[in-house]
Amino acid sequence: MHAAEGGHAAVARLLLDCGAPWNVLSPSGLSAGDLASDDTYDLLLDHALRSELILGTVARRQNSDGPPAENYLESRVSFSEERVMDAESKAVMMAWERPLMEAHARAVCQGGKVLNIGFGMDLVDEAIQRYEPEEHTIVEAHPEVYARMLKLGWGEKKNVRIVFGRWQDVMPQLESYDGIFFDTYGEYYEDMRPGGIYSYFNGLCGDNAFFHVVYCQLVAMELANLGYSTQFIPLPVKDCVTE
Ligand SMILES: C[S@@+](CC[C@H](N)C(=O)[O-])C[C@H]1O[C@@H](n2cnc3c(N)ncnc32)[C@H](O)[C@@H]1O
Repeated sequence: MHAAEGGHAAVARLLLDCGAPWNVLSPSGLSAGDLASDDTYDLLLDHALRSELILGTVARRQNSDGPPAENYLESRVSFSEERVMDAESKAVMMAWERPLMEAHARAVCQGGKVLNIGFGMDLVDEAIQRYEPEEHTIVEAHPEVYARMLKLGWGEKKNVRIVFGRWQDVMPQLESYDGIFFDTYGEYYEDMRPGGIYSYFNGLCGDNAFFHVVYCQLVAMELANLGYSTQFIPLPVKDCVTE
């Protein structure tokens, strides 16, 4: 951190090459990248991206035996006004994300058929409904979230089609769409038809400015490998947090 802050690029490079982690946080939650000078910022960003690309590839290979969310789908979830929590009290979805979900709905609702994967707290689905799509398909895999969808009346909406199951398993029941929003839990990117719009919530490290830059660029690079171009839409986080 001192090397980054002081602009000592050669020292910072040596430390990183010797295995110093790029993502250690100070007691106040700052990383070397948050403190970096113009001379060390790009160095740290480049190192962080390379590390995460390699670690991501290794993790995906290790997980190829089974989907990471399998246990989550078999465990209990709890609901409150503010959040949906998994059995380990980790937040699956939180109410403060509403403005983000509204922005995603705006991006994917350009007319025609819309697909949302992951119902959560129904924030994005409520927003999608306001655009009155021709058809609004929702895929949800958790039995308790699915039961809550029905209780809230989502099964009776005229333009809504609910598909219960993991998106990986129900793909044959899906069609092609004009807009897809994908926001599951503990999963990864998806495909869609050429020319369509793909919007997703990138919640990786939103509470550390440098980490967020790293993961935004990482996602853009990985999507570029799949043939996608990426556009990030900045939103005023302060408004989300104070909601
Ligand atoms: C982060 S929440 C979605 C929040 C939602 N976007 C909203 O606005 O409230 C993730 C949801 O995806 C569901 N989910 C997790 N894995 C899934 C899978 N493989 N297929 C379909 N749904 C899945 C979870 O049960 C949960 O309801």
